[in-house]
Amino acid sequence: MTQTPGPPLRDVPLTHFRDVLGTFATGVVVVTALDEGEPVGMTVQSFASLSLRPPLVLFCPARTSRTWPRVRRAGSFCANVLAEDQADVAAAMASGAGDRFAGLAWEPGHGGAPRLAGALAHVEATVQAVHAGGDHDVVVGRVRRVARGAAGTGPLLYHEGRYARVLGEEAVAPGPRR
Ligand SMILES: Cc1cc2nc3c(=O)[nH]c(=O)nc-3n(C[C@H](O)[C@H](O)[C@H](O)COP(=O)(O)O)c2cc1C
Repeated sequence: MTQTPGPPLRDVPLTHFRDVLGTFATGVVVVTALDEGEPVGMTVQSFASLSLRPPLVLFCPARTSRTWPRVRRAGSFCANVLAEDQADVAAAMASGAGDRFAGLAWEPGHGGAPRLAGALAHVEATVQAVHAGGDHDVVVGRVRRVARGAAGTGPLLYHEGRYARVLGEEAVAPGPRR
């Protein structure tokens, strides 16, 4: 089966661009920090491991984000990798209304950044570099500590505008270890 290429991007609505990019499934992370004694956090799917030596991760906050300047000022953050039962946490940390930490259990980690209870993993880092990326920034974090959290549960996924989970652990093909 051949698939025809799309028209030049200037001829398609931005919603189509978003829909097509939404086919890329990701995990979900809440980036937290402690800014002037107050916990702050935001949901991101733009999280990735970047480098092993030195250990680096990245995430991409919108330049309009109100939380990102506070994370930057704090200088340290925790990337909380959400578990499949934490869709409500993802929604709360993306919401414009209310206290995002209401009812959430957490403890301070590196630089005070909240380590959320029930997360699959905590990746604690300091802001090492910030690069411009259109209407987002690309934040490179130098990893200081990592730990696995909740055992026996799978990751929360985000795909085509919906939260999802892995159904079973059956591999479709053996993957190379990387
Ligand atoms: C699943 C999911 C993934 C998201 N990924 C990102 C992201 O990578 N970068 C970003 O800036 N916002 C992302 N958002 C949106 C922010 O969480 C949302 O805009 C939030 O309100 C930002 O709040 P702030 O203004 O306090 O930073 C995502 C939201 C959801 C639900």
